[in-house]
Amino acid sequence: MGNAPPVICVDGPSGSGKGTLALAIARKLDWNILDSGSLYRIVGLHAYLFDLSVEDDEALKQVVESMDIQFATEPSPNLVVNGKDLTEAIRGEEATRYASLVAKREKVRAALLIRQKEFRKPPGLVADGRDMGTVVFPDAKLKIYLDASPEERARRRYVELKDKGLNVSLPDLFQSLKERDAQDKNRRVSPLKVAPDSFVLDSTGLSIDEVIEKALAAAKQKGLQITN
Ligand code: DC
Repeated sequence: MGNAPPVICVDGPSGSGKGTLALAIARKLDWNILDSGSLYRIVGLHAYLFDLSVEDDEALKQVVESMDIQFATEPSPNLVVNGKDLTEAIRGEEATRYASLVAKREKVRAALLIRQKEFRKPPGLVADGRDMGTVVFPDAKLKIYLDASPEERARRRYVELKDKGLNVSLPDLFQSLKERDAQDKNRRVSPLKVAPDSFVLDSTGLSIDEVIEKALAAAKQKGLQITN
């Protein structure tokens, strides 16, 4: 990997703000971006829409191998799969539920591993997910583990959904977040865990700007050129 483009990984639990941080870093450095959770969501959405069993490894593997995926950071983050804008569709309830089911399948993860590595292109890549630093890009230049208390993560999600005009309950959101945490951390294949060489950043009580500032300072310390 001597000449491979540099990678910054942002791993952490649901709702810790990984996506926001990854996007901010990618924009600052003008690097490529990989939102790996989206890939699991695309596969999950596909299984749901086409009535595929989440245990049909061969069919799911074919979905992974055949999809053309494009992420853009400008003018706003979006995801185009086989020419279709799926930015909103993959955030729905079914895609979310099916994503966590397909994410348990070893063969799906193995097929996605190859696809994820393809995003590593010059001048660099910012990748966010659960196993970016531990499995997909173990040689990353900087690995950030972004955490926040479950209460804070549920509260942020609550505010976000309320702002969208949705009628949601904070206790229900807290409960489903705890369930997703347990699924992510106890999964047999590639569970969410802190890479030993990662910079652990707890965003509880920090503003988005403070989190970005701390992450960029860590990137500078690793020798990455950050201009203002
Ligand atoms: O980050 P997210 O909520 O968009 O992720 C969707 C699902 O995919 C979630 O169940 C966790 C899983 N996932 C994973 O197993 N590994 C990753 N690198 C990213 C997401």
